Amino acid sequence: MKLLVIGSGGREHALAWKLAQSPRVQKVYVAPGNGGTATETGLENTVLSSFPELINFAKKEQIHLTVVGPEAPLAEGIVDAFREAGLAIFGPTRAAAQLEASKDFAKQFMARHGLPTAKHASFTRAQDARAYVEKQGAPVVVKADGLAAGKGVVVAASVAEAMSAIDRMMLENSLGAAGARVVIEEFLEGEEASFIVLSDGAHALPLATSQDHKRLRDGDRGPNTGGMGAYSPAPVVTPGVHARVMREIIQPAISGMAKDGTPYVGFLYAGLMIDRASNPQTLEFNCRLGDPETQPIMLRLKSDLLGLLEHALAGTLEHAEAEWDRRAALGVVLAAAGYPEAPRKGDEIRGLPKPAEDCRVFHAGTRLDGGRLLASGGRVLCVTALGDSLKLARRRAYAAAESIRFEGMQMRADIGHRALKK
Ligand code: AMP
Ligand code: GLY
Repeated sequence: MKLLVIGSGGREHALAWKLAQSPRVQKVYVAPGNGGTATETGLENTVLSSFPELINFAKKEQIHLTVVGPEAPLAEGIVDAFREAGLAIFGPTRAAAQLEASKDFAKQFMARHGLPTAKHASFTRAQDARAYVEKQGAPVVVKADGLAAGKGVVVAASVAEAMSAIDRMMLENSLGAAGARVVIEEFLEGEEASFIVLSDGAHALPLATSQDHKRLRDGDRGPNTGGMGAYSPAPVVTPGVHARVMREIIQPAISGMAKDGTPYVGFLYAGLMIDRASNPQTLEFNCRLGDPETQPIMLRLKSDLLGLLEHALAGTLEHAEAEWDRRAALGVVLAAAGYPEAPRKGDEIRGLPKPAEDCRVFHAGTRLDGGRLLASGGRVLCVTALGDSLKLARRRAYAAAESIRFEGMQMRADIGHRALKK
């Protein structure tokens, strides 16, 4: 059978690669894909993007199942459109994707269903937001309501910084419509983790835990990015924390969405903050897999991913089980010069290591130009490796990254530092 993956990042390369391992799968198309999905065995790129084009393609090619990587098409209703056309697609509907697409919706949802999360208030007028910050003091967190590709959150250390974030979002429209409404949130302390599950609308199957590194530079300094590296599992999610997250956050979220008439089918990603006393709080929901978390998670997944997705679509996830490699996995992102503000495109990439059982390079912002591989986006590659311990996975990933060269390449040297300190 043939599958279709929508997206062009490292997450989609890892997803498509994993789906192509299924003995039942003959080919996985990736729309639009990247330089890695163009050359990977079993994958083929197709340069389509509008929903009608994708729907026609899925019909013509008799695609068994379409899997959506990024949040934007989900929030625009790609799942509704495919379903209306009678096509199988994995992901939340437009209504369910509001859990990520509107922070105000997500906060109201969490309050309504009793999920632990930071105290908040929402505003559509800058003067009201400013007055609230004046009263609350700092540190405080200012969040644009809508999708802002990772640029919508400012953790403000001072009242002045919070005020300027409010002004940029609400008065100068720096994020367009996404910043017309702003959520102001209590600052939470602790360690973050990514908790991603498969949901069939009623049951959740947790994937392996992971942790991302959002800042550009070593020691978690510098500007926020989409993520500079990730590893799995995340030791901060102990078995006790895991059980609480399932009971206090994941299950209430899935039953809450069903009760509200918008059942959630798809990957559901809870961004957690875990405090010193191991209490988990929900920072955010994403309606998709994480990038780069997916890369180490897919390297550890031993089960047939297609089988798990079919269970989720059939509503039978309680009978499914996911088997994980006991080894740890760690992925290091290689980013382009100028990322995240203004990534430079066109630098030639050389020295990619050959894929091995315990190490693969997933592509993100790359494209083929004749025989050359060029950087074409902010995050260019994610070198991902397995090891008997996190330390060994890290050593393997960095050793593989060593041979890769492109002009202006940015790479953090300390992926995994939190877990390794434990
Ligand atoms: P979000 O997109 O809501 O996950 O926010 C992006 C990043 O901002 C998170 O990964 C955290 O590092 C940080 N952040 C968000 N909300 C809070 C909060 N209430 N307290 C502390 N840090 C936060
Ligand atoms: N790596 C964070 C995210 O995918 O949202």
